Amino acid sequence: MSDEFARDVKKGLSSEPKYLESKYFYDTEGDKLFQEIMGLSEYYLTDCEFEILHQNRDKLLKAFSDAGNPFSLVELGAGDGLKTKLLLRHFHGHSADFTYLPIDISPNVLNVLSYELSRDLPGVQVQPYPGDYFDGLDELNRKDGGRKVILFLGSSIGNFQPDDSLNFLKGLYQRMNRGDQLMIGFDLKKDPHIILRAYNDDSGITARFNLNLLNRINKELDADFNLDNFYHYPIYNPLNGETRSFLISKLAQTVRIGYLDQTFHFHMGEPVSMEISQKFDLTMVDELAGRSGFAVEANFFDSRRFFLDSLWKKP
Ligand code: AVJ
Repeated sequence: MSDEFARDVKKGLSSEPKYLESKYFYDTEGDKLFQEIMGLSEYYLTDCEFEILHQNRDKLLKAFSDAGNPFSLVELGAGDGLKTKLLLRHFHGHSADFTYLPIDISPNVLNVLSYELSRDLPGVQVQPYPGDYFDGLDELNRKDGGRKVILFLGSSIGNFQPDDSLNFLKGLYQRMNRGDQLMIGFDLKKDPHIILRAYNDDSGITARFNLNLLNRINKELDADFNLDNFYHYPIYNPLNGETRSFLISKLAQTVRIGYLDQTFHFHMGEPVSMEISQKFDLTMVDELAGRSGFAVEANFFDSRRFFLDSLWKKP
C-alpha cells in the first residue's frame, strides 16, 4: 500500500497543476472525519438518501428479491452502515433470503461494521470482503452464481474523474449476470448555495478532512507539511455540475517527503486539486445507464428531489 501511495503522491505533486487522489482520504482519521461530515447539518446527502431508503424499503425488498427469491446484496464501500442497517433490518424482519456482502478497501471499516452487525442484527448473514471492488465481485462470481444486487450509495460515483465513471460502470456490467441489479446514489444539481455549503461547513470539518491527507503523507511518507500553511477551498460550477475542492498554499514553501527523498515547491496561492464530487441531472444519469448497457428500472427521489437512488438492471 505504502509504495502505491508513495508513487501516486509523487505523481500528483510532480504534475502541473498539482493534485492528490481523494481515494487516499480514508485512513482511520479520515474515516472518522467522514463520519462527522455525514452528521453535519450542511451535508444534506446522507439525510436525503436515508429518507429515500426508508420511504421505499418495501418496494426495494420487492425489487431486490424479484418478488420473494434469494439474492446476494453486495455493497461497494461499506459506508457508515447506518443507511444499510436500515435496509438489512427491514429485509431481515420480513424474512428475506439474502446474504450481505460489503466490499471495502479499508479492513478497519469492515471490522467495525461486521462487529456492529453481529451485535445489532445477529440473524443477518454477512460476508465481508476487504479489497478492491472488482476483485471482490470476481471472487463472489467464482463462488456463487446466484442473483446479485449491487449497492453503490452516497454519490460516491461522483468522485471519479469524468471519463472514469463510465469505465467503472462497464466493469460492473461485465461482472454481473442478466437480471442482476445495480442501485446507485446520485447527488443531483440544485441551488448552488446549498451544494457549496455541504463542502464548506461552518465548523470546518470538511477542511480538516481535506487537510488530513497532508497529515497522512506526513505520517506514512515521512513528510513535513505544515497544515497551517494550506487552506481548504471548495468551488461549485453550475454549468457542468462539478464540485471541486482544493488546498491552497498560503505562501511560497518547500515541503520535503522523506520516503521519496524529494522536495516539492508550492507558490503562494498555488492550488492542489483534491476532490471532484460530481452533481448530476436526469439526462446525465440516463446517459450513463445507456452507455454502460443498463436499463433503468426505477428512480427513487427524496421529498426535496435533492438526491436520486437509481435502480438499474442488466437486461
Ligand atoms: C463519500 C464521495 C460521497 O463527495 O460528497 C464529503 C466525500 N468530500 N465531503 C462526497 C466528501 C467532502 C463524499 N463522498
